Amino acid sequence: MKVITLNDEIMIGQVIGDRFCALLQENPSAVLGLATGASPIPTYQCTISRFKAGDVSFAKAHTFNLDEYCDLPAAHPQSYRSFMHTQLFSHIDIDPQNTHLLDGNASDETAECSRFDALVEQLGGVDLQLLGIGRNGHIGFNEPADTFTQGSFKVQLAPSTLEANSSYFVGERMPTHALTMGVGAILRAKEIVLVATGASKAEAVKAMVQGKITPQLPASALQNHPNVTIYLDPAAASLLQ
Ligand code: GLP
Repeated sequence: MKVITLNDEIMIGQVIGDRFCALLQENPSAVLGLATGASPIPTYQCTISRFKAGDVSFAKAHTFNLDEYCDLPAAHPQSYRSFMHTQLFSHIDIDPQNTHLLDGNASDETAECSRFDALVEQLGGVDLQLLGIGRNGHIGFNEPADTFTQGSFKVQLAPSTLEANSSYFVGERMPTHALTMGVGAILRAKEIVLVATGASKAEAVKAMVQGKITPQLPASALQNHPNVTIYLDPAAASLLQ
């Protein structure tokens, strides 16, 4: 894996936003793997600026998101569907039909996960996957576990994730479960870029880059991928030797 430290999250967003645009200029029908949380927001802002400048079109692209909360209405402001609409989709020319998220309210969750995984395959797989990382080393919502999961599945959120994300659910109950792409599926992306900023990510970053590969630190699996770039700010990089 390549590790690049830049001054701040804005610079990181510009570099990754430019990479997304270059891919779309080369292949307008590219399949993009998208993430939620604070980390990808500067990337989305850069991408929106490039779209508004007329540099890039999403009209033929497809997007797949990593994960979605269970039992949270899609229209809820904290659903990942709403996040993507607010932070990216409503600002660009993507066809809403081409924006794919797992349905965390599906009555048959196993069938929903199979549908989603089959669609990714049908569209040729993810060309460029954007990732953040949880403080416990999760990617998507793959929490520390005994094995790496391949396809999408339902997961119980870890206590540290509930704590980290509870600030988004002030005065209401936070979902305890989610549907997420598995680590195996994430690794099938042709290219992966991961963003980590801030001191709260430093331990997870060190374990991801320099620790042993273990499902107890799901992001460590990225060491096995041939085309991963990790973008850090100085605080997130502070424990790397
Ligand atoms: C969330 C998401 C992840 C994200 C991570 C870090 O729980 N499921 O995809 O990478 O937590 O979020 P943030 O970027 O806000 O720190």
